[in-house]
Amino acid sequence: MSAADDPSASSPTRLPSHVAIIMDGNGRWARRRLMPRFVGHKAGVEAVRNIVVACRERGIGALTLFAFSSENWQRPEEEVGLLMDLFSAALEREVGELQHNNVRVCFIGDRSAFGPGLTARIERAERATAANDGLLLSIAANYGGRWDITQAVKALCGQVQRGELGVADIDERRLAGALELANLPEPDLFIRTGGEQRISNFLLWQLAYTELYFTATLWPDFDRQAFDQALGWYAQRERRFGRTSEQLRQLNSA
Ligand code: IPE
Ligand code: IPE
Ligand code: MG
Repeated sequence: MSAADDPSASSPTRLPSHVAIIMDGNGRWARRRLMPRFVGHKAGVEAVRNIVVACRERGIGALTLFAFSSENWQRPEEEVGLLMDLFSAALEREVGELQHNNVRVCFIGDRSAFGPGLTARIERAERATAANDGLLLSIAANYGGRWDITQAVKALCGQVQRGELGVADIDERRLAGALELANLPEPDLFIRTGGEQRISNFLLWQLAYTELYFTATLWPDFDRQAFDQALGWYAQRERRFGRTSEQLRQLNSA
């Protein structure tokens, strides 16, 4: 019997606990309208708002969004500057709404590259929403999966150097515990909008067993209906984690 034949496998109640999204396609969305790329980034913020609310309504506990990669600094200086201004303004403007929706916001990535103004706003937003428990919204900014693994290795090496940890004690669990998002279950569902089918240095370690969903829809057009479509696709997946379908059925009926 395939997952499609199994009513419990396709039940809309099979929701991911943690969704991770590469929000791609803002530039092309604007270009198609003969507008500067920045207009697409602005429209992208609206899409973020809708998806955050949709996660709250659906009861999804964690949402991780890729907002700016460690490689995005290579974009034209003007675009990078405008993006930083947009993050800063959006943060300031949205904190009230996040509070209202019981959303806790956290940033993952290397913060050392941000200016003092943006850093202060990031810290303020994190502090202001720290007690909210409706949805954990993690924003990946100046984030790279390779950076994440490297910083985790460095942290563990520091512990070894100080005599707090033996090399033999380093295992997957410990390394995972030193990564960003260590306090969260790994993403169940990954979504990339914009048509590209690649990871672009997002959560390299954490996506090991995540279901990968790619859609050509450009991020500013990714609305609740598009999100529900992704959730429906996810609900049909059979997550085997190396086991066989028969084993899963036995486990489920036990
Ligand atoms: C994603 O959209 C937003 C960021 C990377 C900040 P893009 O800006 O990559 O849009 P496309 O891929 O060029 O259309
Ligand atoms: C990935 O999108 C990063 C973000 C969405 C923040 P990119 O547009 O930068 O990815 P590539 O360069 O096409 O792989
Ligand atoms: Mg892109």
